[in-house]
Amino acid sequence: MLYGINTFNKNVKDTPLLDASYPSLDDVYVNKRTVLLRVDYNVPADAKGALLDDFRVRATLPTLRLLRERGGKTVILTHRGRPGGKPHARFSTRPIAERLAELTGHPVAHVPDCIGRVAEDAIRRMAPGDVIMLENTRFHLGEVLNQQDFVRDLAALGDIFINDAFATTHRAHASVTGLTAAMKEVAFGPLMLKEIGWARALMDNELRPRTAIVGGAQVAQKFDMLEAMMPKLNHLLVGGVVANTMLAARDMGLGLSTIEPALMEQARNLMTEAGVLGCRLQLPQDVIVTRPGEEALLCRKVKAYQLAPDDIVRDLGDTTLKTWKKIIQQSTSLFWLGTVGAYEEPAFMKATTELAEALIAAPPTTFTLVAGDGLLRALALAGVRDKMPRVSTAGASLAAALSGKPLPALSMMEVRMKNKAA
Ligand code: 3PG
Repeated sequence: MLYGINTFNKNVKDTPLLDASYPSLDDVYVNKRTVLLRVDYNVPADAKGALLDDFRVRATLPTLRLLRERGGKTVILTHRGRPGGKPHARFSTRPIAERLAELTGHPVAHVPDCIGRVAEDAIRRMAPGDVIMLENTRFHLGEVLNQQDFVRDLAALGDIFINDAFATTHRAHASVTGLTAAMKEVAFGPLMLKEIGWARALMDNELRPRTAIVGGAQVAQKFDMLEAMMPKLNHLLVGGVVANTMLAARDMGLGLSTIEPALMEQARNLMTEAGVLGCRLQLPQDVIVTRPGEEALLCRKVKAYQLAPDDIVRDLGDTTLKTWKKIIQQSTSLFWLGTVGAYEEPAFMKATTELAEALIAAPPTTFTLVAGDGLLRALALAGVRDKMPRVSTAGASLAAALSGKPLPALSMMEVRMKNKAA
């Protein structure tokens, strides 16, 4: 059962905006009222905090347009990074406000705190249709601790709470679950509902063969997800550190490549389980390697079981790519989470680019969804992200949903709905 919540509609398909059971923007009257809009603008940034990718910001533009058209006064709340409960210039939301103003063509005032006098004054000056952005909610310890005082201070700022942050649904934080419980009027935003619909469609569509490509790091999170997903998968294609760990668990030498030694046993269990379930698991047959400090130009293709002690895996090899592309062409449900190559270096983008092109070439009847920060960045660098039919803003929260773990933001909304119905 997805989300651990018992209101799951088994017939839900890829309905772009709707799951009728959750309250949406259509259930609240926003004209001239102050809307606290929770988004996830935890965007990739450089060491100084400059934005490297505004995908998550762009994804919320339809929501902002709707609120503006309906005359709402939109007050944006988001976390950014993990500043540890105190202000930190690198994690300020100011550059995001500036980017948002550029994207919308309207001013977006930045408020240097998310509670207190400065926020109250800024909100008092707002006119219908205005948008302001408050400072990072995680500059207060009350955010991650979901402290009642902090929730109360946030809730006092607005009339309506709209949660549009699917990428943060796995966090029981003040500006997520706290406000859902505390505010009088609450609803989910269009992006949230769209992504819930995608997660549901991914798990519940009747399309076969069903294939998942899983790569990148955060191996523990991916293993938990695979445990839950494997019974419904026909093919599982594994790359990145996830594959390295599985190969190492088969006693293959991975040279100096990153692996997760503590997860070898789970890797072995997963591989056995895949066989029992009839889920065809593909690890790389061949890979592209370099040695430490070696120029990318000197990379070599080797069989996955023939790595030298100082080799580092950088990308999938041609034989693997050919096999995977054939499986993609035959699949009618495709999910891709995590990177398969060291995409920061153009020489190791080949697999990412070719797999993405295979997904893009799938007929419209195929359900495809790609997710994960690193993968989204790799796809953007390869110039193919905008061509993908569905791109999730989420990583960890989607993995949690697909692992069958409860998502506190949804659970809290369910509690409210049940209380209201009772
Ligand atoms: C994410 O990017 O996964 C979300 O913004 C959550 O971030 P967190 O892991 O710091 O809570």
